[in-house]
Amino acid sequence: INDRRESLYIVSGFASKFFQQQMFETDEGKSIGLSYFKERGFRDDIIKKFELGYSPDVWDSLTTAATSEGYNIQFLEETGLTIRKDNDKFYDRFRGRVMFPIHSFTGRVIGFGGRTLKTDKAVPKYVNSPESDIYHKSNVLYGLSFAKKAIRDLDNCYLVEGYADVLSVHQAGIENVVASSGTSLTVDQIRLIKRFTENVTILYDGDDAGIKASLRGLDMILEEGLNVKVVLFPDGDDPDSYVQKFGSAAFKTHIEQSKKDFILFKTGVLLKDAGKDPIKRAGIIREVVESIAKIPDGIKASVFVRECSSLLQIEERVLISELNKIRAAKN
Ligand code: UTP
Ligand code: MN
Ligand code: MN
Ligand code: MN
Ligand code: MN
Repeated sequence: INDRRESLYIVSGFASKFFQQQMFETDEGKSIGLSYFKERGFRDDIIKKFELGYSPDVWDSLTTAATSEGYNIQFLEETGLTIRKDNDKFYDRFRGRVMFPIHSFTGRVIGFGGRTLKTDKAVPKYVNSPESDIYHKSNVLYGLSFAKKAIRDLDNCYLVEGYADVLSVHQAGIENVVASSGTSLTVDQIRLIKRFTENVTILYDGDDAGIKASLRGLDMILEEGLNVKVVLFPDGDDPDSYVQKFGSAAFKTHIEQSKKDFILFKTGVLLKDAGKDPIKRAGIIREVVESIAKIPDGIKASVFVRECSSLLQIEERVLISELNKIRAAKN
């Protein structure tokens, strides 16, 4: 085991304990941090399980606590918890924020997301740890250490956008949920899911950004040979707000009633964009066929060709010839 990386894990673990202690044992932490989480509807058991915390609103509380306990400033800097200024001054990256530790899939703390409590639009909503030797964002799914067993048992993985979505969905008793947090979905993240299941359900926010991200994610998931369904939430809602508002049963019903396979989802989104314009409608066929062309399994692909044919009222042979052209161009 590499000593330097081990030191980064240890200092990250210390920071996580520090943020928890600040939240549960100080007046500022209790009245600002803990009460924020409570107001959002997070239960104590979930707050404890996910090791949520609070970073005090001063320049260097963590840095001072850690160095006085003997932690090396170099490792604090390498995890990004401490930022160096003018060569010899140091301050904390996370100040006055509620803290979400990010765990490796084996459960060790490797980074943090910190949410502001201010509504000021000039302040970034989330600040995240930078890349480090123990935190490679493209390779991490938030919540995976808590979700992996349920993902395997249920043979399905719910993919959400944010930290709060993972917490609220998990709290509702649906534990097979992870977030791509802070990055758009990557191939490495999909391969991580593939270790536990071949079935992914995308539950992204019901806004334009969420729809765009779903379309992007979908093609990547297909390319990795996984099965994918998409559920949209009403505009303005995300899985967190929906499940907190309507409860677990309604959330499950919403998923069952509105989950779409990728053809239905993609044609639905594109048709809405195209309106009655025939040229745009023709473009849709091409785009949908491009997604089908990403499916490595020929039998699965042909099932989707049939569905696409009946949905868009296009003869199968036209779609197949289009599919073959795209495949030929790729090789
Ligand atoms: P959202 O803007 O949907 O935030 O970003 P959210 O998770 O619903 O946050 P709440 O409910 O207001 O607390 C989705 C995810 O994108 C990342 C975070 O991981 C967030 O959870 N994000 C968002 C950032 O990294 N930085 C940001 O400034 C905003
Ligand atoms: Mn590395
Ligand atoms: Mn959003
Ligand atoms: Mn959201
Ligand atoms: Mn949200």
